[in-house]
Amino acid sequence: MVMGMDHVTEAIADGLWYLCLKVLDLSHFISNGPWLTYAIIAVASILVKGLRSENDKETIHIDLPDAAQPGWKGAELEEPDIKEPGLSGIQCYDPATGQRLGIVQPVSVNGIDRAISAAKEAQVEWAKTTFRQRRKVLRTILNFVLINQESIARVSSRDSGKPMLDAAFGEVMVTAEKLQWTIKHGEKVLQPSSRPTNFLLLYKQNTVHYEPLGVVAALVSWNYPFHNFIGPVISAIFAGNAIVVKPSERTAWSAPYFLEIVRVALRSCGHSADLVHTLPMWPETADHLTSHSDIQHITFIGSQTVCKHVLKSSARAIIPVCAELGGKDPAIVLDDLSNSRFKATAHILLRGTFQNTGQNCIGIERIIALPTVYDHLIEFLKPKIESLRVGAPLNSPDIDVGAMISTMNFARLEHLISDAVKNGARLLVGGKRWTNPDFPQGHYFQPTLLVDVIPSMAIAQEELFAPICVLMRASSVDDAIAIANSTSYSLGASVFGRSTKDINKVVHGVRAGMVSVNDFGSFYAVQLPFGGVAGSGYGRFAGEEGLRSLCNIKAVCQDQFWGISTSIPPPHLYPIANTSKAWTAATGIVALGYGNMLQKSTGLWNILRNLI
Ligand SMILES: *[C@@H]1O[C@H](CO)[C@@H](O)[C@H](O)[C@H]1NC(C)=O
Ligand SMILES: *[C@@H]1O[C@H](CO)[C@@H](O)[C@H](O)[C@H]1NC(C)=O
Repeated sequence: MVMGMDHVTEAIADGLWYLCLKVLDLSHFISNGPWLTYAIIAVASILVKGLRSENDKETIHIDLPDAAQPGWKGAELEEPDIKEPGLSGIQCYDPATGQRLGIVQPVSVNGIDRAISAAKEAQVEWAKTTFRQRRKVLRTILNFVLINQESIARVSSRDSGKPMLDAAFGEVMVTAEKLQWTIKHGEKVLQPSSRPTNFLLLYKQNTVHYEPLGVVAALVSWNYPFHNFIGPVISAIFAGNAIVVKPSERTAWSAPYFLEIVRVALRSCGHSADLVHTLPMWPETADHLTSHSDIQHITFIGSQTVCKHVLKSSARAIIPVCAELGGKDPAIVLDDLSNSRFKATAHILLRGTFQNTGQNCIGIERIIALPTVYDHLIEFLKPKIESLRVGAPLNSPDIDVGAMISTMNFARLEHLISDAVKNGARLLVGGKRWTNPDFPQGHYFQPTLLVDVIPSMAIAQEELFAPICVLMRASSVDDAIAIANSTSYSLGASVFGRSTKDINKVVHGVRAGMVSVNDFGSFYAVQLPFGGVAGSGYGRFAGEEGLRSLCNIKAVCQDQFWGISTSIPPPHLYPIANTSKAWTAATGIVALGYGNMLQKSTGLWNILRNLI
C-alpha cells in the first residue's frame, strides 16, 4: 500500500506536535522517555496514518486503438458522413481528415433489452458494495486517466477533430476533477442527513437516505466524447446504480475504448463489468431506451428539438429527465478593468470562445462589453483571431483550432453571419467554411470575429457552437444584463470587472444557471451543480445536487425516545363516536401545534375537554 501525501503531511504535523509537547515540557503526559521516544511516536504515527489512509487501487492497461497511434493513416472517404447509402452501420471517421475509422453496428431493440437486463442484474450486487469499494474503482480509473492522458486525448481527438490541448482541459482535467471530487466528497453527500422535527411530533427523529435508483441512462453529445461518457458513469456507479450510455452516433468509434476503461477497472476490483454499457444507435431506436420500464433516470445532453422527443418518450414510462440543452452564454466585460486584467481577460475570452473549436455548451457565445472597453477588445482580439492556425490536430502539430464535427451547420452559420452584416454588423475576420489543402475532406470553419452585433439579429439569439467570436456593445451595466437576458437560453454566464457592486449586480441580475466571476467556466472545474434554466433545460448534474439526483431520496420518520409512540386520541378512533367533539379536538391539535401562546392554550383546552 502506498501512503497518500496528505497522510504523510498529517503525520509530520503530528510528529511536530509531539516535539512541541517536549519543548513545553508537558511530555510527562505521554512518557518520561528521552527524544527516542518521540521519534518512535512520530514514526508509529506515520505508520498508523499510512495504514488508515485509503489509497487502494488497481493498475490497469487498455490497448490503444490503431487509429489513435502516432503515424496512423486511414483511407480517406470521398464524402465523409456517418450515414452511407446501403450501409446499416454507423460510418465512423475523423472529421479533421475524413479518414475512415470503421463501422460501428448500432444496437437493436433486443440488444437494448439485453444490456438493460444485464445491468439490472449486476446492480443488485453492486448496490451492496461499500463506499470504500466504490472509491477503489474510481481511484483505479483516476490512476489510469493520469497515466494515460495522451492516449485518451488522442482517441478523443481522432473521433471529434479537437486539438490535443482542448482534450487535455475539456476531457482529461474535468474528468480527473470529477473523479477526485467524488472520491473525496461523494460519501459525505450520500450520508443519511438528519432533518428537524416539530412541536406536535417532538418524539420523532427524521432522516433522509440516498439510495440507489437501479439502472439509469445517459444520452450524451459528441463534443466531449470521453468526458460526456464517463461523467454520468462516475456519478451513477458511485450512487450504487448501473448505467447504460447512448453515445452520439458522431463519436460512436471512441465509445468502446472509453467503456473498456470503466469495465476493466470494475473487473480488476472484483465487480461485474455488466454494470456499465454503451449503446450506439440510430435515433429511430432511441425511443425504446428512453421509454424502457427498467430505466429509472435519464441524463440528456443535446438539443432542445431532440430533448422534446426524449421527454415525450420518457413520459410513457414516467422517467425523470435531467435536461442539458446548450446555451448562448454571455461574457459581460465591465469598463473598470486594470491594464493587466484587461489583457488577462481578453485571453480568457479567446479561450472561452475558441476552446473545442467553439463546440462547447458553456462556450462564450456573446461578449457583451461596455463602451470604454469595447474598442480595446476589438483591437486586441482581431490580430489574435487572424493568426489562429486551423488544422487537423493529430496530423499538423502546431494548430490552435481543430475541425468541426460535421458540415451540417455551415450553411446556417454563413447565413447568420451575412444576415448580421446586412443589418449593420461588421465582419472583421473569417466568416466562412474553410477547406484544408492537406485534408480537403475535413470539416472546417474559419475562426471568425463579428462585431457590432445587436440583440435583434438572429446570430445574437441562436446557439452557434462554432469558432465565432461575437461582440455586442452595452451602454451600461443594466443594459449589459438586459442584453445577456435577451435570448431563450440561460446556461452559464461570466462577468469580468473590478467593482464589487457592479459585479454583484451582474451575478444576481443575469438569468443563468451558473456564473463565473473574472473567469470562464470555473464553476465546472470545481464540480458545482451544472445546469441551466429556461431554454437551457432543467435539473443539475455534478456537485451534491447532481449526485443526489441519481438517488431515491428516501424520507424516514421514526420514534426517537424509548416508549413514546403515536396513539390515535380517543375522539378520533374509528368509528368516530361524536363528530362534533372530534372536530373541536382536531382544531385544538392544529392550534396547539401552530398557534401563538394564547391559541396554543385554547387548543390544549379544546383537546382536553373533548378527550372523552
Ligand atoms: C434578467 O433575468 C432575471 C431572471 O429572470 C430577472 O430577475 C432580471 O430582472 C432580468 N434583468 C433584466 C435587466 O432583464
Ligand atoms: C356530542 O358532543 C356534544 C358536546 O360535546 C354534545 O352536545 C352532543 O350531544 C354529542 N352528540 C352525541 C350524538 O352524542
